[in-house]
Amino acid sequence: MGIKVCDQTLRTFLDARDLAYLEEAAAGAHKLLVGKNGAGSDFLGWLSYPETYDRAEYARVQEAARRIRETSDVLIVIGIGGSYLGALSAIELLRGRFHNLKADGLQVFFAGNNLSASYLNELLALCEGREVSVNVISKSGTTTEPAIAFRIFKQYLEQRYGRAEAAQRIYVTTDREKGTLKALADAEGYETFVVPDDIGGRYSVLTSVGMLPIAAAGCDTGAILSGAGDAMRELAAPGLANPAYHYAALRNALYRKGKTTEILVGYEPDLVSFQEWWKQLFGESEGKDGKGIFPASVCFSTDLHSMGQYIQQGLRNLFETVLFFRQPKQEYIIPCDDANADGLSFLDRMPVSRVNHRAFEAALLAHTDGGVPNIVLEAERIDAYTYGYLVYFFEKACAASGYMLGVNPFNQPGVEDYKVNMFALLGKPGYAENRTQLESRLWR
Ligand code: PA5
Repeated sequence: MGIKVCDQTLRTFLDARDLAYLEEAAAGAHKLLVGKNGAGSDFLGWLSYPETYDRAEYARVQEAARRIRETSDVLIVIGIGGSYLGALSAIELLRGRFHNLKADGLQVFFAGNNLSASYLNELLALCEGREVSVNVISKSGTTTEPAIAFRIFKQYLEQRYGRAEAAQRIYVTTDREKGTLKALADAEGYETFVVPDDIGGRYSVLTSVGMLPIAAAGCDTGAILSGAGDAMRELAAPGLANPAYHYAALRNALYRKGKTTEILVGYEPDLVSFQEWWKQLFGESEGKDGKGIFPASVCFSTDLHSMGQYIQQGLRNLFETVLFFRQPKQEYIIPCDDANADGLSFLDRMPVSRVNHRAFEAALLAHTDGGVPNIVLEAERIDAYTYGYLVYFFEKACAASGYMLGVNPFNQPGVEDYKVNMFALLGKPGYAENRTQLESRLWR
């Protein structure tokens, strides 16, 4: 099954030199990944993770998820960046965007991914009258946004349940031994799960980082790991026959031709958070050293009525990658209406998925004609297995693509700059030195 890279409509955009580049780029990236001698090679744990993961830890995750579902109505997942986007993307893709309104499951909300007081107030209000557990996730254990949210929810749980029961309702996912969060968890007796040393945040969804909230939400984590495992085996070969390298090489060939923005296109609202996960994966991995494809996303057909205009006729620095599923997750048949007052009888009894498919074909051809190259990534269906497969596919493509671009796809040095400024402006001990100078540059 797997992922098929369709490049038929792309061919007019690529010449013989580009085709030679594709081969060369795929070979170079494979060599660095397999030889484990590229930049950031200390962070390649995700490559073999579907095979090498710690079975005992995974069993504890399942047990904790069962306990959370048994004792709670609401799970608050606290984390930012790679510490929450994977879980959010899986839960929305598999349980649907309305998952929290469904009667059959635990409600899962996310916190610590922003600094909004109203978001926090509304979330706390939602917890009233419901049984609550918290999973706080931070590899470093020191990130400000989740640390603030955790302080608030820890106090909330302690006030509601008392310290001892609160400790039973708090689950911590962090480094094996380092960091403030690990020290706090040990002191308070919280159950802890490990973010492996050799896996960075945005490559961590298959570890306990993603697995605990995803399992608690009632999704099939076994099928996710099985999909990722098959992807690991099927995407191991060198060359362009490997879809991960093919996709990575195509996007770099387009980038070299001035197509500096890639838009990941989906035709399902349930895919929107997966597109956010993809944006973080590629944006943080590639955007550095003055280089990188800017990752954007759209949900069609919704955004055909907004961003569609720009894509069709705006600046020609774009290409699209369409994530297309051959089978719809669900079906709905358009009803007949003999009166035909709406003029829609040509669609009588047509499945909605067929209309969606025609919208995909129409936009693909229109955008290609408008000068926007389209790569199509085809998968069979939306389910837990395919989610795991896609995660591994994109992680491997992203690592390879970073190497093709000549950057370290596993670090994020640029994220530090705003933090240093924010700590200085907030007066954090050890950072306050240039506070006056920073403040003099701000308006009042
Ligand atoms: O991909 C990454 O490494 C980052 O996006 C991190 O996940 C994010 O900054 C959160 O870091 P931490 O898990 O240490 O709190």
